[in-house]
Amino acid sequence: MLDGHLAVGWLPLACIVLASLPGPGAAYFGLTGNEPLTILPLTSETEEAAVQICDRLKLERKQRKMCRRDPGVAETLMEAISMSAQECEYQFHFERWNCTLEGKYRASLLKKGCKETAFLYAISSAGLTHAMAKACSAGRMERCTCDEAPDLENKEAWQWGGCGDNLKYSNKFVKEFLGKKNSKDLRARVDLHNTNVGIKVIKAGVKTTCKCHGVSGSCTVRTCWRQLSPFHEIGKQLKLKYETSLKVGSTTNEANEATGEGEIAPPKKPVTGHSDQIPRTTDLIYMEDSPNFCKMSKFSPGTFGRRCYKEKNCESLCCGRGHNTQSKVVTRPCQCQVRWCCYVECKQCTQREEIYTCKD
Ligand SMILES: *[C@@H]1O[C@H](CO)[C@@H](O)[C@H](O)[C@H]1NC(C)=O
Repeated sequence: MLDGHLAVGWLPLACIVLASLPGPGAAYFGLTGNEPLTILPLTSETEEAAVQICDRLKLERKQRKMCRRDPGVAETLMEAISMSAQECEYQFHFERWNCTLEGKYRASLLKKGCKETAFLYAISSAGLTHAMAKACSAGRMERCTCDEAPDLENKEAWQWGGCGDNLKYSNKFVKEFLGKKNSKDLRARVDLHNTNVGIKVIKAGVKTTCKCHGVSGSCTVRTCWRQLSPFHEIGKQLKLKYETSLKVGSTTNEANEATGEGEIAPPKKPVTGHSDQIPRTTDLIYMEDSPNFCKMSKFSPGTFGRRCYKEKNCESLCCGRGHNTQSKVVTRPCQCQVRWCCYVECKQCTQREEIYTCKD
């Protein structure tokens, strides 16, 4: 999994990171990237740690200022990074590119501008938007709290209450934090587009949740609040968008080619699943075809040694090179029963299992 500095240096939206991963020896507060996503309340000690995080993240000047002005921001950034990274690994677990986040591969991939790059931009902005909105409603931020009530038409029947996730503040924060002006550079605009797709997916997933009150749950009064989708759901949607992402080219002519200026143009080939070829603001877009990720390259370690699932993905994951089969005896708890009161009793079952891994 991730080690400390990988997790820290990962967030592409902070762009930041590419050139400036923490050097050797930076064990970085002992973070492993596998920390539970609960955040401890801030003390003066953690406040100091927060300032250190802001300095280590290689933020731009304005970003660092935003990071330091509210101690909750640093922790929320860390949480966003680890959440996005874990979700990326989860979504790409069965793919040739398994979201390898090791520094050298990540840097090359972020430079390239392919589908995987698009996904990374979107998942990280989605992660930050999600984490920030949750941090507000969880009371971890100084500058925001719960979502505010919208203007309601029918005030008697239900009340706005509870503590909604504060997407409004979170959106404002993320936009300001990323703060990119409309760039003329096509690649920068593609990145910004994909960043915005991530934010939009969060917005689209907001649901109103209600709880009934009144005599024996008669629901004469309801309290309602806005709630974000679980981040797994967001990851799933972005993975689907990755699969249907659109290749864009530049409509540059000779006059502006040198500056990279030009409009984002439709792809040359029609893409299945899209009735038109013009990318919508909710589509992920990319400019270059992906490397095949089969063999070791600067983009990935290749698929040698990856575990695959026979009849499912060995053929494609191993790129036709075949797989090794290893037989293993595994012991697992089985036939578990809940006993009064209150523990679970299981038998131990031993079973032979085949493990398949890709050949070199
Ligand atoms: C991805 O695959 C490589 C081997 O190609 C492996 O070393 C690495 O641990 C995998 N990463 C994850 C997150 O599963």
